[in-house]
Amino acid sequence: MTDDASTGPVKKLFIKTYGCQMNVYDSQRMAEAMGAEGYVLTEDQADADMVLLNTCHIREKAAEKLYSDLGRLKPLKAERPDLTIGVAGCVAQAEGAEIIRRMPLVDLVVGPQTYHRLPQMLRGEAPAVLTEFPAEDKFDHLPERRATRRAPSAFLTVQEGCDKFCAFCVVPYTRGAEVSRPVDRILREARDLVARGVREITLLGQNVNGWHGAGADGRDWGFGRLIRALAELPGLDRIRYTTSHPNDMAEDLIAAHGEVPQLMPYLHLPVQSGSDRILKAMNRKHTADQYLRLIDRIRAARPDIMLTSDFIVGFPGETDRDHADTLALIEAVGFGTAFSFRYSPRPGTPAHDRPEVDGTLADARLQELQALLSLQQKAAQQAMVGRRLGVLFEKPGRLPGQMVGKSDYLHSVFVDAPQARPGDLLQVRIVESAPNSLRGELAA
Ligand code: SAH
Ligand code: SF4
Ligand code: F3S
Repeated sequence: MTDDASTGPVKKLFIKTYGCQMNVYDSQRMAEAMGAEGYVLTEDQADADMVLLNTCHIREKAAEKLYSDLGRLKPLKAERPDLTIGVAGCVAQAEGAEIIRRMPLVDLVVGPQTYHRLPQMLRGEAPAVLTEFPAEDKFDHLPERRATRRAPSAFLTVQEGCDKFCAFCVVPYTRGAEVSRPVDRILREARDLVARGVREITLLGQNVNGWHGAGADGRDWGFGRLIRALAELPGLDRIRYTTSHPNDMAEDLIAAHGEVPQLMPYLHLPVQSGSDRILKAMNRKHTADQYLRLIDRIRAARPDIMLTSDFIVGFPGETDRDHADTLALIEAVGFGTAFSFRYSPRPGTPAHDRPEVDGTLADARLQELQALLSLQQKAAQQAMVGRRLGVLFEKPGRLPGQMVGKSDYLHSVFVDAPQARPGDLLQVRIVESAPNSLRGELAA
């Protein structure tokens, strides 16, 4: 970003983002909103006029990171009292003014649905703590998307909030009820991104596949229909989405995986547990068998799809038997990779006061589960060797002439390609699997 000298001196904004991709997207939109106020991004916290921490409340460790980071900001604030410190995101939503009480160096607290008012807050034209869920749509009040960084891949939030109320999860409280953005706004934002050189868009939502909205034809569109409309945009070569709920995998969305070439053969579909008893206690509203049959249908539509998932280990009441059921589900599916977490009791959630599983036992189960997932990850990577895949190049690699990009399956691929530029999408033959990446050669 460049500064327009006529708007006054450049002010510098440092943003730290915790948590999920939706926070990454929100941080970009906050940077754009502040950009309209003359702020440019800096990578150097010590150099900033404003520090904004965009926080995550999903597990206790994530939320506590905010307070350790604020503690580390104390000397900077003491040295420069005019430094503005803002807390955004899901901890801001959950704890509100309590954050300022605990850490008086914080000037502003803004929730995920109110950050379009950040400039007003900064000017003192809005309260210093804003965490309501306003009736207005923040997207209507944010500046048009600007190029803060030229990258061939971008996030686009299409759905926010969650009505599912899984017993362990804070998201319905921190992000509010499920809301889908209208089709025309999504298409417009996607067109803007493509016009700026974006070739890959990842559609985001806490329950992204639960998206629905009124289309140009006046009918209620489901998520599969939205993907088909996006696939018609010339120049948009790749479409991804995250995160999905198994109960919202509609027939048309599954079919789209077989029919829309731009839709990448990769699906993150969290299951959390393989035990019906635990799934019920979690309020996930499906059984292990229903999940497995869903996977069968998805693989029937797109046989080469790679599946990934999330698991919670040590949920209250989990027995050895339940844990064994989870391992069995993992064996049955064969995941490309997965995130797994030890259960963390969260304030205000239904499971919060349930008796906890012994910590040592939960840790041992987590290790066992991660060992299995790591074997599957290695096998999935190894299975790429010899295949010819598209790679969207992002930046130069470590070695001279080398470029690194993402394959259709989101693996990082290093390729000797001195002629290639970031944003090139080229066919690559995978020749080797390294611990966390692949190596490939440009295909003829
Ligand atoms: N909407 C997504 C999940 C978003 S949260 C879904 O329905 O799957 C991302 C992941 O964090 C979850 O999938 C879950 O595995 C994990 N998670 C959420 N709450 C947690 C808690 N209290 N303790 C441990 N892990 C948790
Ligand atoms: Fe949380 Fe469940 Fe909603 Fe996912 S579906 S965001 S885990 S409440
Ligand atoms: Fe965390 Fe909020 Fe995302 S709690 S995972 S930042 S929706």
